[in-house]
Amino acid sequence: MSDVRPIGVFDSGVGGLTVLRELRSQCPGERLLYLADLAHFPYGPRYQHEVREFALRIIEHLVAEDVKLVVIACNTATAAALHAARERFDVPIVGVIAPGAQAAVETTRNGRIAVISTEGTFASQQYLHAIKEANPGVGVLPRAAPHLVDIVEAGQADSPAAEVALVEVLEEVTGWGADTLVLGCTHYPLLRPALARVAPGLAVVDSAETTAARVRRILAVNRLEAGAAGGPPPRLLVTGLPERFIDAAALLFGEAPPVPEVLDLWGTGVAGAAGIPRLGMVAS
Ligand code: DGL
Repeated sequence: MSDVRPIGVFDSGVGGLTVLRELRSQCPGERLLYLADLAHFPYGPRYQHEVREFALRIIEHLVAEDVKLVVIACNTATAAALHAARERFDVPIVGVIAPGAQAAVETTRNGRIAVISTEGTFASQQYLHAIKEANPGVGVLPRAAPHLVDIVEAGQADSPAAEVALVEVLEEVTGWGADTLVLGCTHYPLLRPALARVAPGLAVVDSAETTAARVRRILAVNRLEAGAAGGPPPRLLVTGLPERFIDAAALLFGEAPPVPEVLDLWGTGVAGAAGIPRLGMVAS
């Protein structure tokens, strides 16, 4: 029997689309529902308890939309909310930190792994623990690089400005002798072309691919797969003004994202979003 309920995926902005893209490619038969919490972007500089409350409310909404699995496609929200979410909801919930940590441990040859992320993920130290859980024998250098998020959101991921910023961030990483760099923020995979130019010898790991592979396995083990036939295009919900998101997503992925449906999840209204389909709140 196939399970045609959607998979719910969320992030604060465009970054989680890197995970969505991988899910589309690795789980082509699945219906996907992507929620971008634009009202609260960025999550990175916020208090953990605040991000946790946002994430729990979003998951509550996704559950009310009858999703069969939730992907927290944001490292900051995974660090702040994964455990609390699993305690509160029965739906299977997948974060992005453990898959990235596992991939890093499998990639390093010299046992030195650097991680770049937002301030929130850095402060949580969850990458350090996830990597050392996978192999306590490796060294980990976690560093916050929040300005890289702004560069990606501005559609500048593959630009000279991105290269300059990366050179600065990587100085300490290469000085320390890391052979592997974990992109501990779902925005960062979009920096890969610039990274390859400024640090061609560094092995780069991101969790988009490994998270999608994990979702595929979890669906199979729990008999939740929709079937092999191609799923419909993803549905896109946004909690804030989508113009910047649409521009950044189109620029970064080379295709226009689905038409967003504005969701007033926080009861604050979404000013200026006239003309964009508006959702009624799903009771939860
Ligand atoms: N996508 C978020 C993450 O992976 C970073 C963006 C933000 O600060 O909201 O941590």
